[in-house]
Amino acid sequence: MARSAHVGVIVGSLRRESFSRRVARALMDRVADGWSCRLIEIGALPLYNQDLDPDPPQPWQDFREAVKACDALLFVTPEYNRSVPGVLKNATDVGSRPQGANVFAGKPAAVVSVSPYAGGAMAANHALRQSFVYLDLAVMQQPEAYLRDGDKIVDADGRVADPDTDKRLSGFMQAFAAWVERVSTAPPAPFDTFLDQRRKASDAYINGDAGPVIALSAKSDPASFFPPSGDRIVGAAAVDAANEKGARAFAQGSTGRFEILASDAGSDFAYWTGIQHAEARMAGKEDPVPMRLRTTEIFRNEGGEWKLIHRHADFIKDEQ
Ligand code: FNR
Repeated sequence: MARSAHVGVIVGSLRRESFSRRVARALMDRVADGWSCRLIEIGALPLYNQDLDPDPPQPWQDFREAVKACDALLFVTPEYNRSVPGVLKNATDVGSRPQGANVFAGKPAAVVSVSPYAGGAMAANHALRQSFVYLDLAVMQQPEAYLRDGDKIVDADGRVADPDTDKRLSGFMQAFAAWVERVSTAPPAPFDTFLDQRRKASDAYINGDAGPVIALSAKSDPASFFPPSGDRIVGAAAVDAANEKGARAFAQGSTGRFEILASDAGSDFAYWTGIQHAEARMAGKEDPVPMRLRTTEIFRNEGGEWKLIHRHADFIKDEQ
């Protein structure tokens, strides 16, 4: 694999002895080298209700953050009444909202359905895929996995006795790794066009709104920020928090521009370096403050989108 991936695993059954959960664990044991997996629990999510969007319950927010932090998603589900168990449908609804903030968009994903019966929960598998079209998940098409005899194939300790099943589960995870690789190295958006978006995000930032900068910042590590204060901020969550705080120092009415000295983009990484000029309105201050920052930013291609993974900015010396 070109890079490691962090995979979120979502199981569509809350049952303590769930066969689907056993299968999920067996799949997690067969994860590609360099990958990490974590179960994202969905049992405590309040039922989706659009009225709650302005002030979302904490479990919704935690779930959305957990999904955002993943490079890929693996869904393992039983079938209820020839469709997706309600608890899983609820989780997909929660992650898809509020409108415009769908956390699933663009993520590589795979679906495994499990049943003790001969159908292998095929109807649930496809019902889930139907929603995934709208959720804009990049779902692996082949191999399909409709696992019958779900009550027998993995024992309570996660052991898979049957060599054919063992091979099938391993093969599935290898195919998923190849799929994630393929989707993740999708050609990125043109960097010049992206830089316009970056400039607009910077304008919003110096007007007190960190949202657009946070939206284009990497949500998985490595990520870092060396701000003008001389601090060293490491980790995607810490960088987001620093940006949130930093933008609050600015007030409306600031203007800025980028003087780009050099920039380039390959298939995986891009950078620009230059001077950020601003007439900054600071919170609580009357007059605008002129600012010039020596800035270098590095971006990573994440599934076709440029994400900021490192920013180094300091004041030009004579202006400190
Ligand atoms: C089921 N089950 C089931 N199985 C199936 O293959 N097709 C189906 O449509 C249904 N429908 C269904 C509805 C409801 C409400 C329940 C509770 C169960 C049986 C299901 O496959 C079995 O209970 C599994 O053990 C459930 O998966 P977990 O919990 O073991 O992962």
